[in-house]
Amino acid sequence: MWRGEQIEFWLRENGRPTMGAELGVARGRFTAHMLGAFRGLHMVAVDLWSVTTGNPQYENWPVDEHYDAFLFVCECFPGLVTLVRSDTAAAATQFADQSFDFVFVDGDHRYEGVRRDIVAWQPKVRLGGMLCGHDYTPRYPGVMQAVDEIGRRVITGEDYCWMVRA
Ligand SMILES: C[S@@+](CC[C@H](N)C(=O)[O-])C[C@H]1O[C@@H](n2cnc3c(N)ncnc32)[C@H](O)[C@@H]1O
Repeated sequence: MWRGEQIEFWLRENGRPTMGAELGVARGRFTAHMLGAFRGLHMVAVDLWSVTTGNPQYENWPVDEHYDAFLFVCECFPGLVTLVRSDTAAAATQFADQSFDFVFVDGDHRYEGVRRDIVAWQPKVRLGGMLCGHDYTPRYPGVMQAVDEIGRRVITGEDYCWMVRA
């Protein structure tokens, strides 16, 4: 099962989500999956779509192509996506606390980057909602460290997904 299906599975255990966020979007495959899976869901999608992130992991990514692909996703789901072209952690201030059913963290995979995203976005998840993400694997020790530091029981699943209940 790929990450979209894993997160969908966990969400289905807990009712139907109406508000979600993806931090680090690229082509928007995850956001598209969620919008296809849940009628009535609105997604906030945050990415810089820029090579200027200063992160060697994404240095050679075709960001313009990814952005165009994501605009197509937005066209496929009119009115259901809020596109935020911004640093992921900085974007959190635009949203009220406890306003999301889930937040999916998949941007900067370095420890400081993941920690910043978790600190900024954890308060945005409603009680009973889900903070989750991708790449909880020794290949990304920074992801594992930052997630473990949340101090809640971390549930892991397929395709290196992780989640904690808020
Ligand atoms: C692994 S990809 C996301 C994949 C996507 N979540 C999926 O499931 O298909 C990571 C993305 O995070 C973005 N990114 C990395 N650091 C970021 C930051 N600080 N602010 C905004 N976007 C960032 C990159 O531009 C890249 O598109």
